[in-house]
Amino acid sequence: MSTSAAAVTLPPLDHPLEDGWTLPAAWYSSSVVHELELERIFARAWQYVGRADLVAEPGCFFASHVAHVPVVVVRDADGGLRGYVNVCRHRGHLVADGAGCRATLQCPYHAWTYGLDGSLLKAPRSEREPEFDPRDFSLLPVSVATWGPWVFANPDPDAAPLGLVLDGVREVVEASGVDLDDVVFRRRVHWEAPVNWKNAVENYLECYHCAVAHPGLAKVVDVSPDAYEVVERPLSTSQFGRIRPGVREGTANAPYRPGQGVESAQYHHLWPNTTINIEAGRPNVGIDVWLPAAPGRSTGYSDYFFGSDVTEEEIEEIVAFSQQVGKEDQSLVESVQAGLDSGAVPQGRLFGESERLIGHFQRRIHAALTGAG
Ligand code: FES
Ligand SMILES: [Fe+2]
Repeated sequence: MSTSAAAVTLPPLDHPLEDGWTLPAAWYSSSVVHELELERIFARAWQYVGRADLVAEPGCFFASHVAHVPVVVVRDADGGLRGYVNVCRHRGHLVADGAGCRATLQCPYHAWTYGLDGSLLKAPRSEREPEFDPRDFSLLPVSVATWGPWVFANPDPDAAPLGLVLDGVREVVEASGVDLDDVVFRRRVHWEAPVNWKNAVENYLECYHCAVAHPGLAKVVDVSPDAYEVVERPLSTSQFGRIRPGVREGTANAPYRPGQGVESAQYHHLWPNTTINIEAGRPNVGIDVWLPAAPGRSTGYSDYFFGSDVTEEEIEEIVAFSQQVGKEDQSLVESVQAGLDSGAVPQGRLFGESERLIGHFQRRIHAALTGAG
């Protein structure tokens, strides 16, 4: 259901974001904010949805979600990449499940059958319904696009090009030492956290906490403010962490392996909920999505890709390193959520330098929800 600006009241900002204040704590548990985010951010956002290799051949598809919107990505008979809302036009059963290759997409509920072009080909007993015109019941289109091994989707069929979101990030990733044409998918890891999605993303957007909370990371990456570089762009941000001088290849520093392909860590955020991570060492790149499951609950997954000659042992090291950092972050954001939920501190205070990217993110959230952006 659409929510008009006049019909909702957002929890107020007592202090402006421009003065360094955070979004109000109530924005991290409010169902009004959550509903508005789905409508005004996610219903028109590009998000990573899955692997391009799953839809390399005509007739192949995979099902996914952009936030709350079920989508199915299809390689059509002519080789074109297409995306649809994965909701049956009959009564709403999800049409496709998982991934595979087939000539049509058939809804498992009453067997309405759609072509790879989204058109409704067959609806059992439709000949008994003289008013029914199948041409009116094609799957609804969404926008889809690829970059390297990744497929992105946007529920808005008229979305601005994905390239606007990738602008700046693409160049940096492609110069990172990871050849996106030579990476292979190796792992998917799902996660779930009892926190608002913004709380989780904001934790990703600063390394002010790294020296305190990530001893393993801080041992190999120089997380001091003069060495740790951050960049903001209209629709993305990047963080760069140099390997500490003196770090040499060895078990104690795993997976950091200087001189093995990637020389510095990179952490990119694509508005609103996709992140891309590259650790220094053997060619690796992980891509994550952060999904707003409920006002106080997030889910997501990370897909890990590696250079084709990276060994299983090296992959384990990188995934374990990343999962350890993720575990440390999860306990931080759960504690933050408890504090936010208490409402006892209605607005926090950001540091303009060390938390610059959070300020950028929060201003964009605020603009999107208030209709200013
Ligand atoms: S809901 Fe899909 S065929 Fe009935
Ligand atoms: Fe962290």
